[in-house]
Amino acid sequence: MALVATLLGGVLASVARAAQPGAASPVAAPMRDLQWGQLNFLHTTDTHGWHGGHLQESQYSADWGDYISFAHHLRKRADDEGRDLLLVDTGDRVEGNGLYDASDPKGKYYFDIYREQDVDIICTGNHELYQASTAEGEHRRTVPNFKSNYLASNLDYIDPKSGERIPMARRYKKFQTKNQKIDIVAFGFLFDFTGHANNTVVKKVRDTIKEEWFQQAIREKPDLFVVIGHVGVRMQEFEDIYTAIRKQNWHTPIAFFGGHAHVRDAVSFDDKAFAIASGRYMETIGWMSVDGIATKAAAENKALSGVTFKRRYIDNNLLGLYHHSGLDRDSFPTEHGRNVIKMIATARKELDLDYTYGCAPRDLWMTRSPYPSEDSIYSWLEGEVLPDVVVNEERKEKSRLAILNTGAIRFDIFKGPFTTDTTFIVSPFLSVLNYIPDVPYPVAKGVIDLLNNAGQILDAASETPDGPGPLDSRFMAIPEQFAITKSIIHERKDYSAASLEQSSEGQKPLGDDDDSSRKPALVGGYTTVDDLGEDGDDAVHSPLDFYTVPNCVQAEISFPIEGEPDTVDLVFLDFIQPWVLLALKFSGGDYGAKDVSLYKNGSFTDLMAGWIKENWKLC
Ligand SMILES: *[C@@H]1O[C@H](CO)[C@@H](O)[C@H](O)[C@H]1NC(C)=O
Ligand SMILES: *[C@@H]1O[C@H](CO)[C@@H](O)[C@H](O)[C@H]1NC(C)=O
Repeated sequence: MALVATLLGGVLASVARAAQPGAASPVAAPMRDLQWGQLNFLHTTDTHGWHGGHLQESQYSADWGDYISFAHHLRKRADDEGRDLLLVDTGDRVEGNGLYDASDPKGKYYFDIYREQDVDIICTGNHELYQASTAEGEHRRTVPNFKSNYLASNLDYIDPKSGERIPMARRYKKFQTKNQKIDIVAFGFLFDFTGHANNTVVKKVRDTIKEEWFQQAIREKPDLFVVIGHVGVRMQEFEDIYTAIRKQNWHTPIAFFGGHAHVRDAVSFDDKAFAIASGRYMETIGWMSVDGIATKAAAENKALSGVTFKRRYIDNNLLGLYHHSGLDRDSFPTEHGRNVIKMIATARKELDLDYTYGCAPRDLWMTRSPYPSEDSIYSWLEGEVLPDVVVNEERKEKSRLAILNTGAIRFDIFKGPFTTDTTFIVSPFLSVLNYIPDVPYPVAKGVIDLLNNAGQILDAASETPDGPGPLDSRFMAIPEQFAITKSIIHERKDYSAASLEQSSEGQKPLGDDDDSSRKPALVGGYTTVDDLGEDGDDAVHSPLDFYTVPNCVQAEISFPIEGEPDTVDLVFLDFIQPWVLLALKFSGGDYGAKDVSLYKNGSFTDLMAGWIKENWKLC
């Protein structure tokens, strides 16, 4: 009951004006407070260009300018109370939202908006590296913007003029916090990513930790190690770094900040080593606090009883940001924050991000509805979009199979306006449709099942002596799915017709025996379960369903009314070509890159937007 009372006491009643013009107004939720420690962190990761916030989702509608105001107030509180606050960002800041992707060149507005926040430790994600131009922008703009705060422990850059290979940024940094004088050694890693453009080199983490500079750095005697990384907190790379540091330092606390997996999660490596992951898309601002750090100064005064780590996943909701900073809509925005809000609004306007292609007649979900179903975005693509857009005028009589990987879709479509911004949010990639003509149908029809169910076969076929190869079949699916651990995925009933595993994420936030008349109406949202328990989210939400999806979906187009075609054109997104060729081999067809051609001009994103313009009425 005490918990319920606290939560109700924290219900927010004030009204907020959302950050960007036209953004949905936030809705109040019962709140859990931030638990401050000696040293406190705010953590963003995988923001993917969403620095304008979520205009269609009230609970994430604060923007980068609001985050600047928020960090200002929390830094002030830390200063007033003699604590420290550090800001961390673990990469994938780009690709996935019109604010980044809609400009030519991409990122025209992003660099200047992003740099306005004082981030103390920052590193690179894989999305900064897919395109050579993106990696170059990162090296030429963001690295200098953050100077010595930018860390690249296992990433090199190849200078386009000299061809010289240099560290992307410094390998690590050693510094002291402002108020508590805590000595920190910090690293910034990227997981063993292989899909980067040729102007960068990612060194394997397990090799990097053997390098001389790293071995020296872990022999420093700081009060705390901070390891940030564009690395899932349950991935082997963090485990390896943890083990290497512990070999030299039995007692030094280690704070890890991870990303990449797009989930809220926390992992205890041991009682002095703790990791958090802070979600995705500016939905979450992660909070970690550390107490009991044995600084040289503190050690003289008192014996410390041990290190404690706390974490909170802050919804990027203006009402919550007011709550945590003890301010309201008038006192919260700082002048700096307001200016950045204006910069974003101007950029959005110049990019015409609100240009409307059509009006989505219903919500279309990636994982909140089962696949297949009426409300599944994948069923919509398969049943409505692909049959209309996968048409090559010269081969339109030919039966064809069109295969799309589910990871090509990055976000839900909400009922209402589908805008320029939405196209980049839903499908930021430049992938095009390729095809192999006249594949015997018995061979072609086996491909989809191999892509979806024979992951181990495909993985094994691409295995290298160093471990999993670049054809790890999980790369075709959405990242959220393979990061969700069994402990937070809940099996529901069997939908055997679709032969799909179905499950729901989340727990009831309040006990069953609570007096329901006293419960506030909860908004659906994150109900995170991690190594510290079920109380990580700052706002108490009702759980959302999470239904798993296959790696790929497939549409049969222009099939004969009766019987099967003898041969088909096998059409697929270029991104999945290596897996498709491999699956074809297993299915009895020997094809190579020479057999593949472009099926249709235009990116899949453009084709989808074109379909929407033709088929959905304006709102
Ligand atoms: C990278 O690839 C591009 C295009 O294939 C090529 O022109 C360039 O020389 C390559 N750069 C390096 C450093 O290998
Ligand atoms: C793509 O466009 C070019 C130039 O208009 C044209 O020559 C080519 O045939 C088109 N390719 C396909 C597959 O439609």
